[in-house]
Amino acid sequence: MPSIAEREAAVFMRTGVRAPINLVRGQGSRVWDADGKEYLDFIAGIATVSLGHSSPIVVDALKKQADTLIHVSNIFYTEPQIDLAELLMAQSGMSQIFYCNSGAEANEGSIKLARKWGRQHRDGAYEIIVAEGGFHGRTLATITASGTPKYAEPFAPLPEGFVHVPYNSIDALRAAITAQTAAIMLEPLQGEGGVIVPDSDYLPAVRALCDEHNLALVLDEIQTGMGRCGHLFAFQRYGITPDIMSLAKGLGGGVPVAAFLTNDRCAVFEPGDHGTTFGGQPLTTAVALAVTRYMVDQDLPAQVEAKGQHLMERLRSLEDRHPSVGAARGQGLLVALEFTSDIAADVAAACRERGLLVNNVRPNAIRFLPPLTVSDAELNQAVDIVDAALTALESAD
Ligand SMILES: Cc1ncc(COP(=O)(O)O)c(C=O)c1O
Repeated sequence: MPSIAEREAAVFMRTGVRAPINLVRGQGSRVWDADGKEYLDFIAGIATVSLGHSSPIVVDALKKQADTLIHVSNIFYTEPQIDLAELLMAQSGMSQIFYCNSGAEANEGSIKLARKWGRQHRDGAYEIIVAEGGFHGRTLATITASGTPKYAEPFAPLPEGFVHVPYNSIDALRAAITAQTAAIMLEPLQGEGGVIVPDSDYLPAVRALCDEHNLALVLDEIQTGMGRCGHLFAFQRYGITPDIMSLAKGLGGGVPVAAFLTNDRCAVFEPGDHGTTFGGQPLTTAVALAVTRYMVDQDLPAQVEAKGQHLMERLRSLEDRHPSVGAARGQGLLVALEFTSDIAADVAAACRERGLLVNNVRPNAIRFLPPLTVSDAELNQAVDIVDAALTALESAD
């Protein structure tokens, strides 16, 4: 009987490397593999399973909507998508939404919107300034916008019009602005790039720069949004608002739903400009509505902020005991622990053996993305496992 790894190798394109476990069940912050082994899941679908595995909020909404109406065309009105839109507008201060199915698609839509806005309001300008080390998805435009050339180069020719500058440098942004610039597109905190938190005055300065030069500010909140960074949207920490914002991941609590939102200033789409078959269907928007309502009603972002501080304090206590541990960094429950050398893959594997799933976001850093509903006891357990994994690795050296 071939193993699951052998079966996969026979039929899958080689686009990624899997951890050697077959997950079959999840509940709250925990998942189980086919052998019945239990893990604390601090990857959570890479910041997607926001309310935990098989959350009753998600499951109830999914079942109820599945029994009622799963999918119809956007030719027709359906209520869940409008209820969700109204709630997201009330919470974000934006004014219009377009639904899609993945983060990359939400960013594609944001890029189209920013280009159309530039065409109309900036004399045909179409360039978008983006950040080195950023990540915006895997479509042709979004790999080009992302700041990792190796993801894009094999697929040339790439779409024109993206200008890369170092993240967290206002001077670099200012120097890159030309008559062709339509927008600046950034993550409020770079997630895939390694949990890179910008200086606290960076985003306010970017907003001011956009106002000064009449540019659109596009924020990719796909990883940082929906409570992950201790606010419903990460930009709220800085008292600013973007012109365009993309959401995905945590929005559906595990079901595939994404969106991009605009304020009045950039609301330039007209009939025919964009479209989707699945985006905004009743099934996924009903779940996203239940998830978002729960987050708002429970003030989950405030709980995330407190839990994030707890996690950070516990991680910092490791710095004193392990010579291999560098600094912990992050916001809310989007946190990385850096090491003094490239041991992150070994640490992630040693954690996995001990029942904790974390990902090695950089060669020298692991990332913690637990469900936002994680308990303090689970956070403590996770840090204890990292502690034990490091002790084992250090004694093996
Ligand atoms: C900031 C950011 N933007 C976009 C994406 C792409 O999202 P998706 O994989 O749903 O296309 C990701 C995924 O990791 C992300 O972190």
